[in-house]
Amino acid sequence: MNNPLVVVAGGSSAAGIAVAQALLAAGMRVLTVGSDAGRIRAAAELAGGAVPLACDLADPAAVAELAAGIRRDFGPVDGLIHLVGGWRGGGGLAGQSDADWDFLHTSVLATLRNTSREFYPDLAASPVGRLAIVSSTSVTAPTPGNANYAAIKAAAETWVQAVAAGFAEDGKADGDKPAEGGAAAVVLVVKALLDDSMRARSPERTFPGFTDVSVLGKAVAGLFGTPAAGLNGARIIL
Ligand SMILES: NC(=O)c1ccc[n+]([C@@H]2O[C@H](COP(=O)([O-])OP(=O)(O)OC[C@H]3O[C@@H](n4cnc5c(N)ncnc54)[C@H](OP(=O)(O)O)[C@@H]3O)[C@@H](O)[C@H]2O)c1
Repeated sequence: MNNPLVVVAGGSSAAGIAVAQALLAAGMRVLTVGSDAGRIRAAAELAGGAVPLACDLADPAAVAELAAGIRRDFGPVDGLIHLVGGWRGGGGLAGQSDADWDFLHTSVLATLRNTSREFYPDLAASPVGRLAIVSSTSVTAPTPGNANYAAIKAAAETWVQAVAAGFAEDGKADGDKPAEGGAAAVVLVVKALLDDSMRARSPERTFPGFTDVSVLGKAVAGLFGTPAAGLNGARIIL
């Protein structure tokens, strides 16, 4: 069997680079996807061995084309790590604009729905199928100023729980799978992510409660070595 093939959806950021690096270090094949060809190429180079692919993940037809190309050129996908994010907020409840809601809905939720629907069959059939998103502590402690953001992230978490329920059902139906095998969908939770460029920009600042992107990367890579039974549907605070 080939090493697991993992798609990083929204891989151009520091988090995407760190996740791709950790997956590559764990021996996986990594396809990293961003909407901008130049930025995703640069990120793949920094990760050292990921294959860059450009796609607007908010466009269902483009995602279907992407998935068909991946299956043709690389084979079925074993992992989908969804990192497309973005933040809009502030201004109290009155400041939660429809424009911000639409942006977050497209960026966070539509890209998750598009990619997970497209890759679900591959993940469900894989002996190590893993889907993960990175959610926010604001989901369980929302404020008026981040109501749009927290509500969209909550919707993304609920979507992942639906995927997990599907994996659990499919796992039961497949008696041939090894006891430790099967697919798992998980929510990783952070307050905020931290990377070296942030430290360099604000050398005096401390970042209490932030999660370094290298910690996120290790957590993501570790999902593939953790049995699905204890993982599927988990909400893991990093
Ligand atoms: N950063 C934080 O402090 C924080 C806190 C809590 C949770 N999170 C979550 O952690 C994850 C990673 O965070 P992040 O800050 O690295 O996310 P991000 O920078 O907002 O998004 C990751 C990448 O997604 C790409 N992207 C955006 N729209 C896309 C589209 N339509 N199609 C394809 N790619 C697209 C962007 O690159 P291109 O523009 O080049 O495509 C971007 O670099 C996100 O889910 C975020 O919500 C982050």
